Amino acid sequence: MGALTPILTRSWDRADSFTLDAYTDRGGYRALRTALGMDPDAIVTAVKDSGLRGRGGAGFPTGMKWGFIPQGDTKPHYLVVNADESEPGTCKDVPLMMADPHLLIEGSIITAYAIRSHVAFIYVRGEVLHVVRRLQQAVAEAYEAGYLGANILDSGFDLELVVHCGAGAYICGEETALLDSLEGYRGQPRLKPPFPAIAGLYGGPTVINNVESIASVPSIIENGADWFAGMGTEKSKGFGIFSLSGHVTRPGQYEAPLGITLRELLDMAGDVRAGHELKFWTPGGSSTPLLTSEHLDVPLDFESVSAAGSLLGTRALQIFDETTCVIRAVLRWSEFYAHESCGKCTPCREGTYWYKLMLARLEKGNGTEEDLDTLLDLSDNIMGRSFCALGDGATAPVTSSIQHFRDEYIQHFTSGGCPFDPAASTLWAG
Ligand SMILES: Cc1cc2nc3c(=O)[nH]c(=O)nc-3n(C[C@H](O)[C@H](O)[C@H](O)COP(=O)(O)O)c2cc1C
Ligand code: SF4
Repeated sequence: MGALTPILTRSWDRADSFTLDAYTDRGGYRALRTALGMDPDAIVTAVKDSGLRGRGGAGFPTGMKWGFIPQGDTKPHYLVVNADESEPGTCKDVPLMMADPHLLIEGSIITAYAIRSHVAFIYVRGEVLHVVRRLQQAVAEAYEAGYLGANILDSGFDLELVVHCGAGAYICGEETALLDSLEGYRGQPRLKPPFPAIAGLYGGPTVINNVESIASVPSIIENGADWFAGMGTEKSKGFGIFSLSGHVTRPGQYEAPLGITLRELLDMAGDVRAGHELKFWTPGGSSTPLLTSEHLDVPLDFESVSAAGSLLGTRALQIFDETTCVIRAVLRWSEFYAHESCGKCTPCREGTYWYKLMLARLEKGNGTEEDLDTLLDLSDNIMGRSFCALGDGATAPVTSSIQHFRDEYIQHFTSGGCPFDPAASTLWAG
């Protein structure tokens, strides 16, 4: 392996990549023409056959999700694109929408056609105003050119596409909290079942997919399910964007087949910054258990990362070298979860608050080994007992850091303070 597959990212180095002209120049909206000539069910079948799995973190098979939408019913169907991207370390959807908004729009139109929806939303994190403006501009261009609105390309298919801004709450990326927010309520997760495919937005059957999942659809229609399935591994097909950040020489977005390893990605990214070595990393954002240099050769696919004790998540590879205090890193993430917990359920609301207090104390060297047992006990009471996956995700850095770096926690207590110099790490703002 080791090769890049620039499909979603192929136009990113072109200065005008985001314009409709640049998009159509390189064959953009060709897949839409093909799709509109197909039976909608055949599109669902093609996406099922491609093996595409959701790129928003959980990896649920995309075609199967679309197949859950009841057909022949009288209710309006909805497509909602999840562009809330707020997980610490995750930074792939924002550049994709900035550089190639029409790819997402084309994917949205094909998906809406496949699930027989006439109204679609892109729910975008409101803080990224530059992305919101870019999307709005691209949507306006698409309406003007007849790719959106009534009777798209004379096919008889109508679609309204709305760009909706969230207000910057991480929980609104959770699909049912997103729906509440989109309906104008405070964003808090809904009880499932019913799943959104049966009762989603305004109670109608709704497909919710990540930006990257939807942006992968035009290439599947254009090149075929077998082409897509020919990349990646047996159960994790296709390509994906791997976002390298932190202590790496050339941080950035590396699009590659699933199953590539961190070692191969680091080779392309110029390795860990000069003179330093890898200490720990997240395979898929802060909600995925930490891995270490022992895991450099784990294939980055859903199954292998899970077998190694973590999760592929959003392929947000945050790299930390030996100058980083693991407790400080985990404290920062825990502060994030405590802040972003929506407060609906006790294990997450109270647990993340106690994480924050305990880790702040432990980082200063005030603690005993018994505190580590308390942290693990607290984690047991959050994991699997929280109402949504935010609570489970909050436990990942805590439990995995104790698993891999118990000695470092103890070193803080025995030396009565943090042995690391925050300035050496260069990652901390304060
Ligand atoms: C707290 C939380 C935040 C999430 N944030 C996002 C997000 O920003 N973008 C996203 O696509 N999925 C996010 N998800 C996952 C969604 O709930 C959902 O699984 C996803 O949008 C489905 O799309 P996919 O099947 O294409 O991956 C989040 C989940 C949780 C629990
Ligand atoms: S787990 Fe956290 S974010 Fe999810 S419902 Fe409970 S309090 Fe809210």
